[in-house]
Amino acid sequence: MAEVIIVDTPAAAGEWVAQRISALVAGKPDAVLGLATGSTPLPVYAALERRVREEGLNLGHVRGFALDEYVGLPAEHPESYRSVIRRDVVERLGMNAELVCVPNGDRDGINTAGERYEADIRAAGGVDIQILGVGTSGHIGFNEPGSSLNSDTRVKALTEQTRRDNARFFPSIDEVPTHALTQGVGTILRAKHLVLLAFGAAKAEILAECVEGPVTASVPGSAVQLHRHVSVVVDEAAATHL
Ligand code: GLP
Repeated sequence: MAEVIIVDTPAAAGEWVAQRISALVAGKPDAVLGLATGSTPLPVYAALERRVREEGLNLGHVRGFALDEYVGLPAEHPESYRSVIRRDVVERLGMNAELVCVPNGDRDGINTAGERYEADIRAAGGVDIQILGVGTSGHIGFNEPGSSLNSDTRVKALTEQTRRDNARFFPSIDEVPTHALTQGVGTILRAKHLVLLAFGAAKAEILAECVEGPVTASVPGSAVQLHRHVSVVVDEAAATHL
């Protein structure tokens, strides 16, 4: 069942999600969070950071699993998701780096990296709350259009549109990796609670397709409709097509 929460600002959305996460962690200090990158989840991390600093929220025992990682970008590259998660999430929120996993996008071992990641998520008992953004192509994680709704963590080719969208983080589009290792749609659907966030007019159409359109591999984000517990938290601009 999807609940749709329309808030005034991304900051208010961040507070809404941070409140849910705080409540979860209060009852389960070693809760498992599904972490997303991109600009969309930043207000959530900002709201959590405020709670850590001002309200004594302790995320030091919380485990985390990121959705995806570029293939072939060294871990120490500033735009690798291993770097981004460390900088934007682990360090800011006082998490324990050893409890936070990001898929290993190194070419060496890439063929088995997906399976290993799935095993790690299973061993942690699964994800309690999965934070999700959506790409303008309809991707969740890096599951581009055509991704099986049953898929596990594996390598996917990025669409031109996604590479263009993410070129803002690189000196030129030529340096945006062509492939990513991403949790599958099936992996994401195994999380206990999905929180799908979208802000701004540029996301309005794809958000409506995800939330109200047909469930189809052509719009991987539409798979959230198959989940029993989904919260869609959006600002007014992203909600105009709902
Ligand atoms: C990125 C990530 C996704 C993210 C999406 C939207 O490339 N792989 O997990 O949700 O694209 O990005 P943004 O939030 O910056 O719009």
